[in-house]
Amino acid sequence: MSITEKFVTMEYGPAPEDPKEALSWLGHHGRRFGHFIAGAWHQPVESHYFETTDPSSSEKLADVAQGSAADIDAAVRAAGAALPKWQALTPHGRSRYLYALARTMQKHSRRLAVLETMDNGKPIRESRDIDIPLVIRHFYHHAGWAQLLGQEFPGYIACGVVGQIIPWNFPLLMLAWKIAPALATGNTVVLKPAEFTPLTALAFAEICQEVGLPAGVVNIVTGDGSTGEALVRHPDVAKIAFTGSTEVGRAIRSATATGHKRLSLELGGKSPFIIFEDADLDSAVEGLVDGIWFNQGQVCCAGSRLLMQESIAEPLIAKVRDRMSTLRAGSPLDKSIDIGAIVAGVQLDRIKRLVEQGVAEGATCWQPQIELPSRGFYYPPTLLSNVHPTSIVAQQEIFGPVLATMTFRTPREAVELANNTVYGLAACVWSESINVALHVASQLKAGVVWVNCTNLFDASCEFGGYRESGYGREGGREGLLEYLEPVWFKNAKALPALPPPAGQKLDQESTDGSDSTTPAIDRTVKLYIGGKQARPDSGYSMEVRTANGRLLGEAPLGNRKDIRNAVEAAHKASAWAKSTAHTRAQVLYYLAENLSQRSKEIARRLAAVVGETQAAAEVSLGIERIFSYAAWADKFDGAVHNPPFRNVVLAMNEPLGTVGVICPNDAPLLGFLSLAMPVLAAGNTAVVVPSEAYPLITAELYQVFDTSDLPAGAVNIVTGYTSQLLKVLAEHDDVDAIWCFADEASAAAAKFYSVGNLKQVFTNEGRSIDWFDVKQGEGRWFLQHATQVKNIWVPYGE
Ligand code: NAI
Repeated sequence: MSITEKFVTMEYGPAPEDPKEALSWLGHHGRRFGHFIAGAWHQPVESHYFETTDPSSSEKLADVAQGSAADIDAAVRAAGAALPKWQALTPHGRSRYLYALARTMQKHSRRLAVLETMDNGKPIRESRDIDIPLVIRHFYHHAGWAQLLGQEFPGYIACGVVGQIIPWNFPLLMLAWKIAPALATGNTVVLKPAEFTPLTALAFAEICQEVGLPAGVVNIVTGDGSTGEALVRHPDVAKIAFTGSTEVGRAIRSATATGHKRLSLELGGKSPFIIFEDADLDSAVEGLVDGIWFNQGQVCCAGSRLLMQESIAEPLIAKVRDRMSTLRAGSPLDKSIDIGAIVAGVQLDRIKRLVEQGVAEGATCWQPQIELPSRGFYYPPTLLSNVHPTSIVAQQEIFGPVLATMTFRTPREAVELANNTVYGLAACVWSESINVALHVASQLKAGVVWVNCTNLFDASCEFGGYRESGYGREGGREGLLEYLEPVWFKNAKALPALPPPAGQKLDQESTDGSDSTTPAIDRTVKLYIGGKQARPDSGYSMEVRTANGRLLGEAPLGNRKDIRNAVEAAHKASAWAKSTAHTRAQVLYYLAENLSQRSKEIARRLAAVVGETQAAAEVSLGIERIFSYAAWADKFDGAVHNPPFRNVVLAMNEPLGTVGVICPNDAPLLGFLSLAMPVLAAGNTAVVVPSEAYPLITAELYQVFDTSDLPAGAVNIVTGYTSQLLKVLAEHDDVDAIWCFADEASAAAAKFYSVGNLKQVFTNEGRSIDWFDVKQGEGRWFLQHATQVKNIWVPYGE
């Protein structure tokens, strides 16, 4: 074709990227890679290798070591050995290494982009212009955090040896998201890349050598799920950071229930892409192309559900189809390609299967007539309409270039539809009305909301999910906190185990109970549910005695039904979250005032269990603690981030929802207040199980709550045996988080039972907390766990 003809037809010619450098790098390694442990290459202990291939051609790229438990053990030991020296470096020293990593990756950026595309199948345009620049930005940004660590996070220390497991959809970017913050905060790392895409992690290992990173600070062990599992189970790993499927995330949550590993999970999504009738439709369609066809839709935050306002559905769909017909699929190394290969045959089969199921459930499938390469794993961009909100294609992550469409009439309906999933990773809102867009954004259950933009990421902004999309954040301050712990907490001692549940007693109305052998029963308390005193469903109660056996009274033995009622009441009180922070502060001040008025009486009763001195301290510090959280209520602000685009990013601290709280035994009043108050101050509602040692505190508290302006149901109290009530709370799907501050077994149970809806779990790990010490017993550490940050990206400019 002549140039003149090309000018008229505007046909694309081939624009292949030269793979020479990447191939020569593979050749230099003999196309065979061991593990990178203690700064050197090691053959796998069991001498097993697997092939990594180019999904666009199925050609073998290299043999890669299959890691065994022995390889993982060697890597963890190397990371452990490197820890003291790495931590002994000054923040500036660590910062220079991170800076050097950023610089050196910049130097090799083209080779890394080509290698990524060959191993993963993503278009070179994306790896070159998006993935690798973001990787480099991540290391630069965290070189800065390493420098500022001491000033910005005083009193915090690194977790230790961190195990990191990453997926195949953004291999080097996920590595950067994991390794940069871990190193910046003084941890050492064992990273396991995904089995489909290990090559850029191995190239990164070589870059660690090139910059002279101390041996053992970064270790890379390749392999499949079993290698990941060995890392998760290794006893010397202090934290696991995982990105991947929700199913494996659940398995990891269960496997780490015992022991004290920290855990952050970045899991799947089914993100809504909401377009209102006043949106700029052409821009929205371009956004949609990025939202669902970027990386062939193999993106955890892909905008895979298109929600359109009914009035514009028809013209919008016509525009979407037109645009789909211009997408170009082909060799990922071609610079003019939009759609590359699916990472592997099994993923392609999974996409096909899910689309077939969707069609069988009534969806209409439309695909443009575009040419697909004859070999390799390709799937065309696909539009599913007439999708019922409960259909598998509206609910399950497809992880492919498949868009499911639905319509709505009002903003309210849009929010309902958007939130109608178990996930909560990201969302897009397109409207020219900033009021509508922000109003909707604030109601979406999602960690990231892009207003009139799509798929923007930056190291300074937090990324991570609500609900079953996981917990923890990557990027920003919150991302660093995932790798840090308060120093005092790390050194805290273990608490004694809770006594096993004693017997039960038929509940009776307040009896005097005095006879010649037993002193008088003080009184019988009730449960406190929905602002009312309630008798327990079981009709049983537990005796409450002093350490030397004197009977003080009886507390109801709450059961599953009581917890269910309490959770329902807590949900009904969701207006508490919507009240202004000022209002919440005022209510808490009033609560402190009312506690203060009853302080003598409360101290007198409490003294029977904890002695006079402690009782007096619990009451006076308890009042102070409520004051503190009243003060915090309107000061635990978010932030405005400045990513290097024309966007402001509003980082808002939002409540988690309904929090189940298990109180410690050692400070019945102060422990209760130290946990319930931050939960409430942040706008959550609570179902609290008070100290098993002295549940009678409930009676003092409900009188205080009743006389304050706390809305009914904001706090509910169910007394009973910790172990029994904890299980019910942790398994309850309408409880959004568990705070468990009892013994070690309870901490493990909280994690184990919460796996169903992957609720967030905050525990003392069975360690003792000095509730009387302000540094330990109150402040940001608690508020951080009472909130989740939502990043709302808002573009500006013409
Ligand atoms: P996966 O969750 O099995 O793999 C992710 C990583 O976890 C890999 O490195 C893998 O080796 C490792 N792994 C697997 N089993 C493990 C275990 N028991 N313990 C520790 N590590 C383990 O994801 P897979 O099978 O590659 O993809 C399946 C589906 O998962 C996709 O279709 C997609 O829906 C979802 N997915 C979501 C991702 C995200 O970014 N949220 C990324 C990858 C997959």
